[in-house]
Amino acid sequence: MLRSVILAASRSSRIERLVETAPLARGVVRRFVPGAAADDALRATGELVSDGLSVSLDLLGEDTETPEQAAATKEAYVELLAALKGADLTPAAEVSVKLSALGQKFDEQLAYDGARAICAAASEAGTTVTLDAEDHTTTDSTLDILTKLRTDFPTTGAVLQAYLRRTEADCRELATAGSRVRLCKGAYKEPESVAYQSALDVDKAFVRCLNILMSGDGYPMLATHDPRLVAIGEDRARWFDRSPDEFEFQFLYGVRPEEQARLAAEGYTVRIYLPYGNQWYAYLMRRLAERPANLGFFLRALRSK
Ligand code: FDA
Repeated sequence: MLRSVILAASRSSRIERLVETAPLARGVVRRFVPGAAADDALRATGELVSDGLSVSLDLLGEDTETPEQAAATKEAYVELLAALKGADLTPAAEVSVKLSALGQKFDEQLAYDGARAICAAASEAGTTVTLDAEDHTTTDSTLDILTKLRTDFPTTGAVLQAYLRRTEADCRELATAGSRVRLCKGAYKEPESVAYQSALDVDKAFVRCLNILMSGDGYPMLATHDPRLVAIGEDRARWFDRSPDEFEFQFLYGVRPEEQARLAAEGYTVRIYLPYGNQWYAYLMRRLAERPANLGFFLRALRSK
């Protein structure tokens, strides 16, 4: 019921305009998405970097339907990377890329070519790229493209979703020297056949995956706001004797900023995932619709410091 209401709202340009113009709603959006233009993203990145945080920028947009849209997304990333370099924000800032925004759903080769061009631009700018994880039907294709990209751009990062039953095996596969792996719980609505459904099972899977990554040879990136999982991450860093430059914590922009600052003050590397672009409305609403529990997540973030 809640999902259908949110989905209906996501298609309504009237509600979009309302959200855009209502001061409180605009405040909510700005809390999670600093703006539509690349300049907004650059400004927010500069502020985060001067606070001692690292950043991964995400140009909002997914499920591209035409080669022209895919080319525009690729170009926007290439320009963004040049601007980040020009503003002296690399290597503190990298980019996160959704292969579906580069055409993965209709032309895998096109998505690979686009991602390759972005990796080349990132390398030129002195930074790197992480491939976001999307719904489970894309996991094999995304990991195949990652393997190919890593031949020439070995620092390209992967994202693994703890809620997928396959992920422990993927963690073992990717916990190798030089391999950057972001571990998150997973944000999509997935069937029981492929994903754990209860929060407890997802949390337990996250800890098993975290143990594999932190005891392995790669570079783990722990992407969660969950206090218990952050504490377990800190514990495993001590246990496996990982120094702050051998793994990192990651948070979404606007979520638990005091915790971000606390971890950075403790000397940890903390990277903020910063979405920007004019598709913010669809992005926020789809996240809510895919998983209505995310509504509580955003509301909690508004209350939290
Ligand atoms: P969850 O939402 O389950 O909350 C657990 C507990 O954490 C809460 O009970 C509360 O105690 C605390 N908490 C959570 N939010 C809080 C808040 N706002 N304020 C105070 N306390 C709070 N997903 C995906 O499928 N593909 C991807 O590529 C990515 N990429 C990604 C990057 C980064 C940097 C992050 C942080 C997340 C992602 N995700 C993602 C999203 C991820 O899969 C997941 O949906 C969200 O992070 C929510 O899960 P949490 O682990 O944060 O805890």
